[in-house]
Amino acid sequence: MTSTPVTRAVVIGCGHYLPENVVPNAAFTKTLDTSDEWIVSRSGIERRHMAAKGENTSHLASHAARAALTHAGIEADTLDAIIVATSTPDMTFPSVATMVQSDIEAFSAYAFDVQAVCAGFVYALANANALIVSGQAKRVLVIGAETFSRIMDWSDRGTCVLFGDGAGALILEAQDGDGTATDRGILATDLNADGRQRDVLYVDGGVSSTGTAGFLRMQGKEVFRHAIEKLAQTAETALTKAGLESDQIDWIVPHQANLRIIQGTAKKLGLTMDRVIVTVQDHGNTSAASIPLALSVGVERGQIKRGDLIVTEAIGGGLAWGAVVLRW
Ligand code: UT7
Repeated sequence: MTSTPVTRAVVIGCGHYLPENVVPNAAFTKTLDTSDEWIVSRSGIERRHMAAKGENTSHLASHAARAALTHAGIEADTLDAIIVATSTPDMTFPSVATMVQSDIEAFSAYAFDVQAVCAGFVYALANANALIVSGQAKRVLVIGAETFSRIMDWSDRGTCVLFGDGAGALILEAQDGDGTATDRGILATDLNADGRQRDVLYVDGGVSSTGTAGFLRMQGKEVFRHAIEKLAQTAETALTKAGLESDQIDWIVPHQANLRIIQGTAKKLGLTMDRVIVTVQDHGNTSAASIPLALSVGVERGQIKRGDLIVTEAIGGGLAWGAVVLRW
């Protein structure tokens, strides 16, 4: 096999943070016509974490960032860039990423947020990869952090039981590769969007429209209808770009929205569930935080190991969706 030296964005550390307060499904039965049985059978969700009053997205993000720095064994002042994927920033501006920069004292890093809802972490990873491959950064902290509990309509049983709060972080570093799929690091990315579908999942407020934060609105069945097909397709496209086949995957680390979507996508890719990292039962849907949370939990559980071939995939409001193939 011929090989050409390339720069790869390699994961050198990961970490996560979950707010202390754990809310079981049973808590919703006090105020809503719902049941633990319905929530578990339709979504796979058993519990979720919720941020305390005054605990904002930047706080969750900074906790996850510190955990990732410790895991990587590096100092914050060696970071060149910080990217935070979030749709629930503390404030309209400044970005959560600049707040994290200040919290962790990473004063050599430029910082910005990416907003692609549940696909946000995949978009952020692709952006971090582009910065590293193009020589604009050597070390990038990529965080997914959300407080979706702040945009829930607590009277809407079709949405409020599904989401949770949390944060996960990866640190990527420029390393030399030989240009083949045996390299560690990001091997391929695939990003997609279809704004014609923006009405199936949105928040009904915003700065330039209502002047309020708004509440999440979702046509769950419609999103479900798009999800499995688009997720399997983007994962396959990314694999093809990397010159790999789905049977070479060690782990799928999917966006954790619904166990049935996770199972359906794995099946479409021809993989059994013992090769899928699943955290949705414990975290609910944490939007852009779900993939880095699942990666970090997967490492903590001893499932993900150095050299493993991983495919992440996500879809969310926009619609926006995509996949990243990386070797851990
Ligand atoms: O991360 C961003 C992407 N988001 C997603 O991927 C979410 C995708 N969608 C889903 O995960 C699923 O569509 C849901 C979990 C949201 C819903 O599952 P479903 O099997 O599609 O159920 P449904 O929306 O068709 O609702 C079935 C029934 C309805 O009652 P009727 O109209 O059949 O009488 C709902 O009103 O279940 C009812 N329902 C509930 N019942 C008890 C909806 N929410 C609840 C609830 N408890 N919490």
